[in-house]
Amino acid sequence: MDSAALIVREKEPLNVESPACVLDSFLTPNDLFFIRNHFPIPRLNPESYRLRVDGAVADPLRISYEELRAMPSRTSTVTLECAGNGRSFLQPRKSGVPWELGAIGTAEWTGVPLAHLLRRAGVDDGAVAVFVEGADRGEPTNDPKPDGEIAFARTLPIEKAQEPDVLLAYRMNARDLTPEHGFPVRAIVPGYYGMASVKWITHIEVLREWPRGYWETSEYSYWDAAEGRPIVRPLDKIRVKSAIVRPRMHEIVRPNMGYRVTGAAWSGTSEIAKVELSVDGGETWNVARLLDASRRYAWRRWEYEWRTPAQSRMCVLLSRARDSTGATQPDHHDANYGSYAINYTLPVEVFVRSSMRSSGIRTESISGRVENLVGETLL
Ligand code: MTE
Repeated sequence: MDSAALIVREKEPLNVESPACVLDSFLTPNDLFFIRNHFPIPRLNPESYRLRVDGAVADPLRISYEELRAMPSRTSTVTLECAGNGRSFLQPRKSGVPWELGAIGTAEWTGVPLAHLLRRAGVDDGAVAVFVEGADRGEPTNDPKPDGEIAFARTLPIEKAQEPDVLLAYRMNARDLTPEHGFPVRAIVPGYYGMASVKWITHIEVLREWPRGYWETSEYSYWDAAEGRPIVRPLDKIRVKSAIVRPRMHEIVRPNMGYRVTGAAWSGTSEIAKVELSVDGGETWNVARLLDASRRYAWRRWEYEWRTPAQSRMCVLLSRARDSTGATQPDHHDANYGSYAINYTLPVEVFVRSSMRSSGIRTESISGRVENLVGETLL
């Protein structure tokens, strides 16, 4: 990893997030793209690399990196969001990597549609799922967990695996993948949380039964109450969400000014239809302007021209997105999702005041000088 601008949340295994300002750029530069690893990064040799496709298929395959790169390819623009993005804002605090806003990014991914390989292998009629396994191994963290090491893996429903946009990607923003992002080959599963986009893929197995492994039960799952009693289901689609990029939390802005509030909004498998902004803690909502064209699997940036209040005070800003299915961001975290799928409207507190210099309170600064600081009550 050669970027000095990523925020380290964990050194081993490496987990780094982007500064929130990456949401300002439609495509996230590769060296500013967040990295989420469960285990140490495997270093695979492209010469000896082989991808096995087997299980419930007529003709199992063994494909080299070179062969894969010679197959018909496709490029898709896809936003990848880690299921734990925003975890650090949850109250009470939850265990797991303490992501703020930056466990998300958008890139143009190039690779071979998984459907192409599945067609070549000839999927059996009774197949229900596709198990995708990475080359990285280690001891998992969530209970209940098996004893010893396992490989990172994820299972996709057969219908999703056969969609033309699900890629075995080898390029990211027109560059070969780096080891951190899955070199030589990774999955890109548009619309699903990032855990489905398995990196360093070495094995794909077509299954006749949905597996009950660690990755389908203990980690990246949620409680679905839809059937009258709680049922554990694997996480899949990204839930509708937006984030405010500007202003930052606790920024000081001038009164009675035009101020451009910006952010981004995204939703798993449907498009963003509307973003609203509240500057009064959710009492009233104003429609924001969507900036990017609507694309099924990519975020849309938005802006709102705010006339700041004439008087000094604190304002609570909230953004709220709605997608084309009518799903809207909730105002509270859904406890059934544990520490995942954190898509509630997140308040950004902003101080409106005319000047840093004003009256009265004499305070010792960190450098030891005695200064006049803010004299008015900010809250
Ligand atoms: N694939 C493997 N083999 N091992 C992993 O730890 N992490 C997953 C996914 N694929 C992971 C993986 C998770 S949780 C996310 S959010 C994305 O990779 C992150 O992709 P990135 O590191 O390229 O941003």
